[in-house]
Parts: sequence; structure tokens; C-alpha cells
Amino acid sequence: MTTSIDYTEKIPNNVDLAQDRRLRRALESWQPNFLQWWKDMGPALPTRDVYLRTAVNVGSEGWAHFGHVPMDQYRWGIFLAQRDAGRQIAFGAHKGEPAWQQVPGEYRAELRRLIVVQGDTEPASVEQQRHLGFSAPSLLDLRNLFQVNVEEGRHLWAMVYLLHAYFGREGREEAEELLHRSSGSADAPRILGAFNEQTPDWLAFFMFTYFTDRDGKFQLGTLKESGFDPLSRTCEFMLKEEAHHMAVGTTGVDRVVERTAQLMVEHDTDDVRPFGGIPLDVVQRYLNSHYSVSLDLFGSETSTNVANYFTAGLKGRWLEESRQDDHVLGDGTVLVDALLDDGSVGRTEVPALVGLNTDLRHEYTADCMNGVNRWNRILDNAGVGQRLHLPSVAFNRRVGTFGGIAATPEGTVISAAEFDRRRGEWLPTDADRSHVRSLMQPVLEEGKIASWLAPPKKGVDGRPFEYDYVHLA
Ligand SMILES: [Fe+2]
Ligand SMILES: [Fe+2]
Repeated sequence: MTTSIDYTEKIPNNVDLAQDRRLRRALESWQPNFLQWWKDMGPALPTRDVYLRTAVNVGSEGWAHFGHVPMDQYRWGIFLAQRDAGRQIAFGAHKGEPAWQQVPGEYRAELRRLIVVQGDTEPASVEQQRHLGFSAPSLLDLRNLFQVNVEEGRHLWAMVYLLHAYFGREGREEAEELLHRSSGSADAPRILGAFNEQTPDWLAFFMFTYFTDRDGKFQLGTLKESGFDPLSRTCEFMLKEEAHHMAVGTTGVDRVVERTAQLMVEHDTDDVRPFGGIPLDVVQRYLNSHYSVSLDLFGSETSTNVANYFTAGLKGRWLEESRQDDHVLGDGTVLVDALLDDGSVGRTEVPALVGLNTDLRHEYTADCMNGVNRWNRILDNAGVGQRLHLPSVAFNRRVGTFGGIAATPEGTVISAAEFDRRRGEWLPTDADRSHVRSLMQPVLEEGKIASWLAPPKKGVDGRPFEYDYVHLA
């Protein structure tokens, strides 16, 4: 197999779709449903074309092409990373066996579930971001939003390909369901909580792409280790695209913080609202909300299900191969976050296998800290004394050990009544949201930018900030 992609096909791909008539037909009959979903649930702002990147090769160099394309003509396709013919399963009971090219019968249901849960998040975020185009702070930001949207659509294709190619009729039914559920719907919501929340404004969008897309990075990282080789290769390529989504979040929050700091210094005040900025305490409350909701995506602190996935070789750990242990975890232990007997938040020791969710969540938190440190450096450089913080793992949780208790962002357990009383100190209030909403006036002129956001350090694909990234309809 080559790494280049066949664009002469109706569905661009590097999986030799032309050779498999049944599969090609099945996917070609799903394609119009996808396009209808894109029309109904995708970006609502009418555009003529957008300066987008399209994958042209899955190799390490020159994998993307940039150009203006009408969004509904974006070439969504199926791109798997190159196959390593000698790849072996790196962990669990099947460690050292050749990676599977077909789904092992005994793991069929579990694998299908993992793929469906991952697949469900991809269209969900497009739905959540559907209306943001109307309030874009600049043409470049608008273009970045659409880039993220088309690629999440492609990630849906990535999962649907696996369902169609490897899971028969049940897989095809699941593929239909992925288009049927929708974010925030009362009768058919998306599977995971964070993907039914709203993304009502651009601060929420930047926080979402920083914190929630980053959950995606870690989930894809564990699936990339999977013994099921097609899943591994799919996730490897998705991670490449995902990096851009997180960069949009990282630099987005950078630019909010930079602008806020600038206004604070210029006007010698913390209250930058009169000057069209977002106060730092509002940024902190958004951060608290998005981080805590994203922590829930990692599941309970301990899980025998996930232990079984690991032992079966379906889902590994983050950077499995660089771990210095036996990759089987028969007897090790690990510390997981817990509510201690004295009622405080701490850690307790459990068998390593059942603590895998916590292992991944800790990796995630360490990665999130990089962003917070970065934003604090921006504050420091601007001469602002305040700092942003990640809240405690126990704060505002719905899932797992801390789901049943209330805690402050510092991790002190408090009563539910006190939490309700003080909620407005820690989570976005109606007043915060309406102030942020009042700033969300579209700025769609080339080279112009909204008041609440600093311009980016650079443009896209070597273009300047002042460029016609999007042509409106
Ligand atoms: Fe994605
Ligand atoms: Fe993403």
C-alpha cells in the first residue's frame, strides 16, 4: 500500500476501496446521509469558500494541501497511517502476537463499542459549534473553526469506515445511529456528557478545543496502541489532524489572556469589561468548567471494564511502548485519586490494571498544566500579578468517586448547600456569559480583529493575518 491518497474516487481513500465493491457501495450509500447531516447540523453561516487544508498523503512530510474550497465540497475520506507489516501487540495477554488485521470474534462487541463511543464525539462537536460562525472575531478564526469542523467530519468517516468494513450489518446500523443522535437532543443525545453541553461563545470554543479536544488526543492515543491494526492506523492519522484543533485552543486562550492583560495594564484595573475585554476571573471560571467536564470523560477512577480492554489488547496506555514495565500489569499497583476516610481528597493504592482510567487522566492533567503555565507566562510578561489555575480533580465532577460530593477548586470537601451558594465564584455565571456574549460581535473584514482578543502571532500556511481566509456567501 502506498501512503498517497486516491482522489479520483467518489470517496477519497488509501484503503483500496476500488477493489472492494460491496464495501464501496455501502459507504457510497452512507455518503449522502453524511452530506445531509452536514447541511442540517454543520456550520450555519453561509460561505462561498474557505481556505482549508485537505490531507493528500499520510506520510510524515507534505501531508496536507491548502486552498480555497466550498465547504460542502470538502473531500472527506478514509486515510489510514501506513501499515507496519511486522507490528506486534505491545501489551496485555496477547503481547508479542502479530497485530490483528481482522476483528477477533471474542472481542467484537467491545471493539465495536469503543469505536462507536469515539465516533460519536466527532459529529457532536460540529453540532455544538454550528452557530459560532456568526460571531467570529476574525476571518482567520472563522477559517480555523471551519477547519476543525471539516476534520471532525472526517474523523466521523474514519470511524464509520471501520464499522462498515469490519462489523457487518451491526456496524452499518451503528453508522446510521451516529448521524441520528445529536448533541443536546432530548430523545437521542450524544453518548458522553461533555458533548451535549453548549459551546455558546468563542471563549467556550477555545476552552473546548484546549480541554475537550485534548481528551480526544488521549483517547486516540490509547486506541492507537490497539491490537486491532486498522483501528490503530486510523487513530494514528487522526492524531495528526487533532494536533491542529488543540493548537487552535492553546493559541486562542493565549490571545484572550494577552488581550486581557494588555487592557488591565493600560487601564490599571482588573475590570476590563468597560474596555471590551474578558476579565481574568471569567476566564478562570470558564477554565474550571471545561476542565472539570473534560475530566469526567475519562470515566471512574477505577474500572474493571478498562482493565479487561487492556488485558484483551484492545486499548493500551498513553505511550504504551515507552513505559518501563512488563506491559501486562499482572501484579503492579498504582495510586488513584480518592476520597479518604477522614473525608479529604487524596490518593489510594489499587491494582495497576483497574487504575488505568486514572493513569490516563493524570497524563491528561499534566498536559493541561502546560497550557496553564503558558498563560501564566503571558500574564507575567505583561506585568500582571494574577495567575490561572487548574481546579482540583474533585471539583465539579459528575462521574466517579467525586461525582457524589461537592468540593472547592482547591479540593476542600464542602456541603452541597455551600457549593450552591458559592457556585458563582467558581463557575461561569449568567452575568459572565451575557458579558461574553455581548462581546461576540462578528468581525469579518480582512485583517480586523475583535476587541477582546489579541491577533495571532502568525497566519495559516505562511499567509499573513490579513488575508481572505473565508469568502462569505
Ligand atoms: Fe476528532
Ligand atoms: Fe478534534
